[in-house]
Amino acid sequence: MAGEVALRKLVDADIVKIESQFQCLEGAGESQWFGFWNTAKLRARLAQDQFIGAQDGALAIAFQDEIVGKVDWFTSTTWGRANTSACWEIAVGIFADYRGQGIGTTAQRLLVDYLFTHYPRHRIQATTAAENIAEQRVLESLGFTLEGTVRQAQWRGGAWHDQLLYSLLRDEWAAAEPAAP
Ligand SMILES: CC(C)(COP(=O)(O)OP(=O)(O)OC[C@H]1O[C@@H](n2cnc3c(N)ncnc32)[C@H](O)[C@@H]1OP(=O)(O)O)[C@@H](O)C(=O)NCCC(=O)NCCS
Repeated sequence: MAGEVALRKLVDADIVKIESQFQCLEGAGESQWFGFWNTAKLRARLAQDQFIGAQDGALAIAFQDEIVGKVDWFTSTTWGRANTSACWEIAVGIFADYRGQGIGTTAQRLLVDYLFTHYPRHRIQATTAAENIAEQRVLESLGFTLEGTVRQAQWRGGAWHDQLLYSLLRDEWAAAEPAAP
């Protein structure tokens, strides 16, 4: 599986698929459906910088050369001044028909490796809903540490939901990853 999953830059044709996949409860997933959102911003962003920005970005997840989801990263400055304490936060969505096959795990492994390789930031964090067992398993299998519960932080589906905060540090990733040949 791992050899067939890759990250690549988003292109025009991907936008229609992302729109059709993530604009409903089943497509977005139970813990990622917040109602309809303005997808015009996807086209605007692609035209602006191809989703490769200094403070955030996104890549397509390709499986056997087809887009099957998207990974995003953005800057979190919650913990201090932006110029000294910024860390990455990551997010992912796999199209419904491709879930449960290991693609989400491989895609997030590739993203973590990409971010630590190409940017000097020290910490990558992720938040996920307390109900999202699949994402918790992914993060734990990649070596993320559960730091705590952010209580009733997210409004979704007519109720407030707890979020779990995870992190992975550069040294931990370097210690866990085999050296490149
Ligand atoms: C969460 C998500 C990224 C996981 O990716 P995936 O490709 O479906 O997951 P994988 O096949 O790599 O499986 C990862 C682990 O979750 C487990 N898992 C998969 N689907 C599951 C489910 N529905 N319920 C419980 N566990 C599940 C797998 O058994 C595996 O665990 P293991 O490593 O202990 O065997 C994907 O399901 C998804 O995009 N969901 C909708 C959007 C979303 O929730 N994004 C995350 C936002 S924080």
